[in-house]
Amino acid sequence: MKYRTLGKQKRKVSVLGFGAMRFPVHNGNDAEIQREPTIQLLHRAIDAGINYIDTAYVYHGGHSEQLVAEALSQGNYRHQTYVATKLPIWNVQKPSDFDQLLDEQLRNLRTEQIDFYLLHCLQRPEWNRLLQLGLLEWCDRVVKSGKVGELGFSFHDSFEMLEEIVHARDWSFCQVQYNLVNEHTQAGTRGVEFLHHQGLDVIVMEPLLGGTLAAPPEPIAKLYAEAGRDPVEIALLWLWEKQGISLLLSGMNTTEQLEQNLRLADMAGEGKLTPSDYELIAAVQQTYEKLSPIPCTKCRYCIPNCPQGVAIPDNFEMYNNAQTFGGSNLVLNHNLYHLLPSAQQASSCIQCGACAKHCPQSLPIPELLEKVVKLFA
Ligand SMILES: NC(=O)c1ccc[n+]([C@@H]2O[C@H](COP(=O)([O-])OP(=O)(O)OC[C@H]3O[C@@H](n4cnc5c(N)ncnc54)[C@H](OP(=O)(O)O)[C@@H]3O)[C@@H](O)[C@H]2O)c1
Repeated sequence: MKYRTLGKQKRKVSVLGFGAMRFPVHNGNDAEIQREPTIQLLHRAIDAGINYIDTAYVYHGGHSEQLVAEALSQGNYRHQTYVATKLPIWNVQKPSDFDQLLDEQLRNLRTEQIDFYLLHCLQRPEWNRLLQLGLLEWCDRVVKSGKVGELGFSFHDSFEMLEEIVHARDWSFCQVQYNLVNEHTQAGTRGVEFLHHQGLDVIVMEPLLGGTLAAPPEPIAKLYAEAGRDPVEIALLWLWEKQGISLLLSGMNTTEQLEQNLRLADMAGEGKLTPSDYELIAAVQQTYEKLSPIPCTKCRYCIPNCPQGVAIPDNFEMYNNAQTFGGSNLVLNHNLYHLLPSAQQASSCIQCGACAKHCPQSLPIPELLEKVVKLFA
């Protein structure tokens, strides 16, 4: 495993971190983590040198932090690992909520200090609201208290918003969504370079765009096949070549994924991609742009906020598959859509917009659900 530094204390972190948002689950139910396989995955990851685990209050219906704590409580694993978790900023309604939530997370994680703490998904409306509640004063106080080792934020807004947040205080690090098809989305390449020049270490989330880059649609799979290259390898090595990135997080949920990503992490560094790899990447980027499916990353932040229980990411996935692959896939996804319980179908959307406020991609979800309804009607 290769290591780079992260944060003000320059702690050595593995170039590959473990994202605790996509553990294997029972019956497709996000809140029912498969406990034993997950603990084994985490232990194998740490044994292989991964020393950074990224969880959050909300992951897996609120069970991710506890499961990470359980895995780390065994053997010497806690001492070998940095734990990162995130403050669910949308749950902060009054100033005392900051401390209450953090204390609850310390208990969930069975620790005295959270090594890396992030304000989860800072976006414009929440940022302004939290400033009113004394966010910046609380940030300074909580680092001094020792309950938090390093304080940063995760980010899904525009470059302009990123600049504003970065200049507001002396943060330790920043976590951004970044991958080879998101060069111009959210922070994008400009944002990653800006953070680096500001002296802020970058953590990358969604390096495979939630897994979609690993299983590309046919025209893109063809480009990779013709070049004899593997999409996961290209996507991860592309990121590790960039300056200023301390680590990539991947939400691995099988041993095969973990082992492949561990092998790739050993290759992390500059000069691993050839000029013909960069030509391939340019062709892949252009083809994705032409296909333009709904850029949902299946993070599921929308799910708890839908009063109707619409399975928003599943609807988008079926729509994307049907649109991108066409032919028999259109029929297959049409059938899959109609197999969903009716409450979960896009047609149950009442257009209230509660979901869209929580979408890190800022997708106009109700509008897109209408497209799904039209396609599968
Ligand atoms: N702060 C935030 O706002 C925020 C938002 C999003 C994510 N995150 C954090 O960032 C972490 C990383 O993001 P992510 O989970 O979206 O990462 P990602 O690597 O883009 O996607 C993970 C998915 O990629 C697929 N995958 C991973 N390795 C693979 C391999 N070797 N071969 C084939 N498929 C592979 C799997 O998909 P399948 O499951 O389909 O097999 C896996 O679930 C999350 O787990 C979470 O901790 C934070």
